[in-house]
Amino acid sequence: MRRIISLNKTWRYSEAFDDKFINENFDDSQFQVVHLPHTNKDVPYSYFDEKISQLISCYRKKINIPEEFGGRRIYLDFEGVMCYVKVYLNSAYVGEHKGGYTPFSIDITDHVRFGSSNHLVVMVDSTERKDVPPFGNVIDYLVYGGIYREVSLRIVDSVFIENVRLESVDVLSNAKKLKAEVYLENRTNAEKSVVLSLKLKDGDRVISQATRSVVIPQQIGDTVQLTLDIDEGIELWDIDAPRLYDVEIYLEGEGFSDTFERKFGFREALFNTDGFYLNGKRVKLRGLNRHQSFPYVGYAMPARVQRKDADILKHELGLNMVRTSHYPQSKHFLDRCDEIGLLVFEEIPGWQYIGDDEWKEVSKANVVEMIRRDWNRPSIVLWGVRINESQDDHDFYAETNALARRTDPSRQTGGVRCLNGSELLEDVYTMNDFIHEGGDVVLRDQKEITSLDRNVPYLVTEYNGHMYPTKRFDNEERQMEHCLRHLKVINAAALDDGISGAIGWCAFDYNTHKDFGAGDRICHHGVMDMFRIPKFAAYAYKSQMDPSRGVVLEPTTVFARGERCIGGVTPLLVMTNCDYVDFYYGGVKVGRYYPVKDRFPGLDHPPILIEEMTGEWGMAWQQGELVGFVDGREAVRKTYSAEPVVSRLIAEIDDLVLSSEEIDATRIVFKLVDQEGHLIPYINESIKISINGHGELVGPDLVSLVGGCIGTWVKTKGQKGEIVVSASCSRFRTDEIVIQVE
Ligand code: GAL
Repeated sequence: MRRIISLNKTWRYSEAFDDKFINENFDDSQFQVVHLPHTNKDVPYSYFDEKISQLISCYRKKINIPEEFGGRRIYLDFEGVMCYVKVYLNSAYVGEHKGGYTPFSIDITDHVRFGSSNHLVVMVDSTERKDVPPFGNVIDYLVYGGIYREVSLRIVDSVFIENVRLESVDVLSNAKKLKAEVYLENRTNAEKSVVLSLKLKDGDRVISQATRSVVIPQQIGDTVQLTLDIDEGIELWDIDAPRLYDVEIYLEGEGFSDTFERKFGFREALFNTDGFYLNGKRVKLRGLNRHQSFPYVGYAMPARVQRKDADILKHELGLNMVRTSHYPQSKHFLDRCDEIGLLVFEEIPGWQYIGDDEWKEVSKANVVEMIRRDWNRPSIVLWGVRINESQDDHDFYAETNALARRTDPSRQTGGVRCLNGSELLEDVYTMNDFIHEGGDVVLRDQKEITSLDRNVPYLVTEYNGHMYPTKRFDNEERQMEHCLRHLKVINAAALDDGISGAIGWCAFDYNTHKDFGAGDRICHHGVMDMFRIPKFAAYAYKSQMDPSRGVVLEPTTVFARGERCIGGVTPLLVMTNCDYVDFYYGGVKVGRYYPVKDRFPGLDHPPILIEEMTGEWGMAWQQGELVGFVDGREAVRKTYSAEPVVSRLIAEIDDLVLSSEEIDATRIVFKLVDQEGHLIPYINESIKISINGHGELVGPDLVSLVGGCIGTWVKTKGQKGEIVVSASCSRFRTDEIVIQVE
């Protein structure tokens, strides 16, 4: 049986590397003690030199490998290290890997000292190496550095399961099948008879099972197919009901055994010339691009925070799709996408630039590593096998497509481009269509872009972004326009059957290189900021959800007389899923307003537009009130004071219970609000965050509010106990938040 041992806690870390660190007798007591996931250098929130994390650093760890593991194979499994790694055990070189976003394993069996302490040393080169994608030219995002994902030790017998590819077949018929391609390794010097059994389970209940005996040759990898016919009704994995079952595979033979377990969903996903079909039903895709980065620690956020992003996209923004721009992302994020029914377009690392042959080899390896890691995820419906927005390169992309199809024949390929008429080698033409500039042209007809004389499966993979960067604290007219542009594109995508859907740029603001962004090393292209706090544009998406998932009533205003040009708050764009809204000004009803369906016929919930002027310049400013109705009943009411004053400092936390098993973290957002509970966007205040107990802050404890609020994350130290957090500013203090680490 296999054993997996987590190696995430207690490494010794040095920001510099020296060959002498490789020697197992080197005294690393002066190194810093760190836990994984770890970023090689904490970065400030903004205005920093992006080169500070381009380091060659060193991670060291002592690992005890018990006597009882002798005679078995021992692997080190790395989930992701940026971006070139050399690994040493007991002073000997044991392996290396190029590429910062895909997992790799290193066989250390021959170097292990069983029953005693082993010295593991990892050289981590996080410089922007020209031989590793995405590097070689400028890039609009930071990649940070370090061992930023988890590491574990895997102990297996000499005959073991290396990987399994699962595929659901004929899912729309009554004769569904589960196909398993089992990749076996025989690392002995003799051929071996093995018995393989495959079980499909729902909890403890076995739905179907099959067994097969085979002989595998010595010292070789072999693939064995097993197929299950499924007689009983299986629920399909869908966006609204992401049904997952358990698949278990057992390997047995004389002197060895192994198990493979994972969650799996039955579904059929197909991009067609007239749209995207999930389980035979056409679904219009509405999504945003996600970068996996966070303030201060870059990519190095624990599982819970990665998972939370998927929840935000699905439940706070009401999306049905995400693109993992521009690289394979955390497995925890993808696990959550599987669990909650968020479709994923996953792509290989890269940004506009194609390097030399050596670089291309790493890129091709990325294709295979990405697919072999994620091929069992029902959420993933498309593999991106081009470098985002690169030039055509026939031979290279013919190969990446062939590799993807060979590795996983069950999924279509895409490859994101921005050039009209670029050669279609993929199954789906995936295009960044940045044509919309606020006018009437919103999305182009696909034939205009593809230069083909026929329709092909087609998906818009980016829009907006740099065409209209908008900060969360920008003035409300700009934020309203930002919002309108997003609404217009999702409306246009919905109306065109030749477009499977559209994935906007982007979900969250992100740190970037000096060549992009607002000079502050932040690209303010998100509909949420880096702390995942919404801008008005977030509500363009959120308001498209059915009111049964939450009533939305979000006017694009801070409700003040003099914030906009000429004064007043009209035209007032209200993002809502209410049937209609009553607007009161100074206690007097101005009118009842309905969604502007004629302007947004493609939207389930078009916005409401209030155009009547509310009082003139020079008159006293009055209180405003919006009342939203669903099914004829008042569903929500929002009051806006005519004289807002700062009234409270509040703290909103995502989780009150954390785990001590691995390093865990959760987000807190601090906000100054007025007497009606509305965020005060234009206040300049600093807050001091205090934290006690078994936790620490990610980032500084003295911060200025940005646009009235700011987020932080509280991180465990790996021990059980309580963490107590509070914050204060010059006028207020929050309540104490008590987090239990269990
Ligand atoms: C695209 C690119 C994205 C981002 C975006 C900004 O060209 O693919 O990574 O830079 O522009 O709008």
